[in-house]
Amino acid sequence: MRHAYFPTLVYQYDVDGREQLNKNLLDLTYAEREGGVANNKSNTAELGSWHSATNLHKNPDYLPILTEVDAVLGRMSEELHYAKDHVLKVTSMWSIINPPGNGNRAHVHPNSLWSGVYYVSAPENAGKIEFIDPRTVIIMNQPKYENKKKRPRECWQKVNFKPTPGRMVIFPAWLYHGVDTNMSKEKGRAGDRVIVSFNINQVRI
Ligand SMILES: [Fe+2]
Repeated sequence: MRHAYFPTLVYQYDVDGREQLNKNLLDLTYAEREGGVANNKSNTAELGSWHSATNLHKNPDYLPILTEVDAVLGRMSEELHYAKDHVLKVTSMWSIINPPGNGNRAHVHPNSLWSGVYYVSAPENAGKIEFIDPRTVIIMNQPKYENKKKRPRECWQKVNFKPTPGRMVIFPAWLYHGVDTNMSKEKGRAGDRVIVSFNINQVRI
């Protein structure tokens, strides 16, 4: 018998009605960029990546995506047996546009329980998100694996998710992650990787 303790949970959810939602979010995101507010975080602003302000969850225009996130958070709280007098809530939300040549440096999201990303637009080779094994002491000694065999999932030390428009990925806020460089050959906005991202905390009802 083999036990697997201390797993790292990553949730994935595909939103219904994603075409209309994404069209609206895309317009909102470019309008937000025109508005001129920009943040420099894990994005490569020096290469042309843009990061919005972090209070989009307070803007009623983002209610449709917020509603989708809340639905998932409710199911997570239920599944994880979180306290019934608390609720998981989006406490900050922002958007990022990564044109070709841009990525995001590896980082964590402090002061949150969970974090998430929703893919609004992503051409081929727009840059995968990579999650990195948080058990850093594992580097003290490494087993050798068979070359041609895929490692058992429990032994992976990184995992990538391809950005798929309409898909939401929710992960522990402490989990290190980065985004590969957008290598799209598409021209103009068609080459942009556009996401909405958010932090989540548990608040008392
Ligand atoms: Fe992040």
